[in-house]
Amino acid sequence: MLYAVFLHFMVAIAVSTKNSTDQSKPPGKGKPNFIIIMTDDQDLHLNSLDYQPAVQKHFTEQGSFYKKHYVTLAQCCPSRVSFLTGMAGHNTNVTDVFPPYGGYPKFISQGFNDNYLPVWLQQAGYNTYYTGKFLNAHDLGNWNKPLPKGWTGSDFLLDPYTYMYYNATLQRNQEPPKSYPGEYNTDLIKDRALGFLDEAAAADEPFFIGVMPIGPHTETTVPENPSEESLPVFLPPKPAKRHEHLYQGVKIPRTYNFNPDKPSGANYVRELPQQNETVLAYNDEFYRLRLASLAAVDDLINEVFEKLEEYDLLDNTYIIYTTDNGFHMGQHRMDPGKSCAYEEDVNVPMIIRGPGVPKRNVTSPTSHTDIVPTLFKLAGIPLLEQFDGSPMPITPEEHANAKTEHVNIELWGGNLGEGEYRIPVPTLRNTYKALRIVAEDYEYTYIVWCTNEHELYDMKVDPGQMDNLWDTENDDCDFPPERLQPRLDALLMVLKSCKGDVCVHPWKSIHPLGNVNTLKDAMSPEFDAFYASQPEVSFSECAMGYFPSAEGPQRAIPFIPREMT
Ligand SMILES: *[C@@H]1O[C@H](CO)[C@@H](O)[C@H](O)[C@H]1NC(C)=O
Ligand SMILES: *[C@@H]1O[C@H](CO)[C@@H](O)[C@H](O)[C@H]1NC(C)=O
Ligand SMILES: *[C@@H]1O[C@H](CO)[C@@H](O)[C@H](O)[C@H]1NC(C)=O
Ligand SMILES: *[C@@H]1O[C@H](CO)[C@@H](O)[C@H](O)[C@H]1NC(C)=O
Ligand SMILES: *[C@@H]1O[C@H](CO)[C@@H](O)[C@H](O)[C@H]1NC(C)=O
Repeated sequence: MLYAVFLHFMVAIAVSTKNSTDQSKPPGKGKPNFIIIMTDDQDLHLNSLDYQPAVQKHFTEQGSFYKKHYVTLAQCCPSRVSFLTGMAGHNTNVTDVFPPYGGYPKFISQGFNDNYLPVWLQQAGYNTYYTGKFLNAHDLGNWNKPLPKGWTGSDFLLDPYTYMYYNATLQRNQEPPKSYPGEYNTDLIKDRALGFLDEAAAADEPFFIGVMPIGPHTETTVPENPSEESLPVFLPPKPAKRHEHLYQGVKIPRTYNFNPDKPSGANYVRELPQQNETVLAYNDEFYRLRLASLAAVDDLINEVFEKLEEYDLLDNTYIIYTTDNGFHMGQHRMDPGKSCAYEEDVNVPMIIRGPGVPKRNVTSPTSHTDIVPTLFKLAGIPLLEQFDGSPMPITPEEHANAKTEHVNIELWGGNLGEGEYRIPVPTLRNTYKALRIVAEDYEYTYIVWCTNEHELYDMKVDPGQMDNLWDTENDDCDFPPERLQPRLDALLMVLKSCKGDVCVHPWKSIHPLGNVNTLKDAMSPEFDAFYASQPEVSFSECAMGYFPSAEGPQRAIPFIPREMT
């Protein structure tokens, strides 16, 4: 609680230092508008975007595609809270979809209802609107206990009907929830998005609109009190009636990591049996239904852009297309689902268009914790100290100066497969720390599981993460694994508990002199002995929530040259 009070105080400071010289001028005058369209569980790696001509037309052809954009938590609620606060999961401690470790109640008890994006934007003079999925476990029982703060207009999908494609429950502003049997979920969200856009355009203030359709998430029945005995049932998504026939015969891409002959990965992933023809056929149809459910999202996009053109707002509006986490289906033999640190789950679509955003592919890494800092920068709002991310590069100069090469990925708790053939018990060993390094000359994935198993992949040669280099010797590599591992461990040690600027500049914690800013710098042989003496990232148990006592050593040793000691 004390922490939440402190954060609240920091926000108060940031806001009070705003210019207040000209009281007659609305505080938001001249600031740009923002629209973010965030789908649910959309993949980048299974090529779903190839089936969305509206995304191509309005986003890819018009703006910057962040090809190395990551979610730092590959699960809906933790990822959305991280997006809405600009903070890493280990700092929000909203680490699951349901209480006690996550869901809307945890968001409230952590104090974020007074301390997140819409509240800050309103303080900066914005009108704020939101429709669609907010947070898991925001439901028929707790929707007004309390109401989510900060919204000028809101219309939320509520649990347990959030993921019912034809029986949504929506809750508008202060009004009681209302059920919409027979109407198509994504179309309901589209209508509300267009309505809020009308309201926003009529008001003389800058605006933010969050549009959060559920496609292509599964049709999910959420039990009233989820537990190990009563788990949600996840069935393939239902497309809109007008789209049911689409994409007959389209199959999940047969990449080299798809249902491989030999087991891959580590931990429970390595124990999975190969999928048989029945399961493959079921999952291919599941995949087709995902693509078809995205066609309604495309309709939504087309109509939002028609309206933006009609109101002549495109010159002053930044529009973002992304999702809350990725998705896998059959890669590493896994049942359909998310929650892993593999590329399919964490590297997600992220496209931004708007004034001054060039048409380009961006290859420097960015993450969901960077989204709010990016909006703040574009709106000229001073960044908050609690942000664990930094503004994403947009202009050519910013791209030239984008030196970050790391993304910190983490998760706590279990993993549930989806679909009829999922392994029926939840895997309770899905707590891990992971690191993605993305540089021009080298790329790695490094994962430490709560079982203390490790995975290390050279992403330049093995993008499908099939050849685990952990504990192998390979002197042909530029960075031999035995020299690479201790460096990655030290970096992960800093990132797994970093706050604020430390998350943006982690090498400074290990090399306070500032002479090491990249993995390449750290690979210098002069540091071999130093890194060999670092503590290793490890766990003493697979905890379901964030308990630092279960997570081994907490600090990397800083490098102090002998002449300074
Ligand atoms: C306040 O106004 C001055 C001058 O117009 C400007 O340089 C400064 O960036 C503004 N500060 C904030 C916090 O908006
Ligand atoms: C995270 O939240 C759980 C309860 O949900 C609590 O028991 C735990 O101590 C918290 N962890 C930290 C590091 O605050
Ligand atoms: C549809 O949702 C309402 C609550 O909003 C519920 O009472 C009703 O049982 C649901 N119908 C079906 C078929 O699930
Ligand atoms: C294929 O695998 C599924 C899931 O393990 C199983 O239920 C089914 O019986 C299997 N089918 C055949 C034909 O072996
Ligand atoms: C971005 O990359 C894709 C291939 O991934 C390519 O087809 C496209 O032309 C590139 N776009 C730009 C603007 O360079």
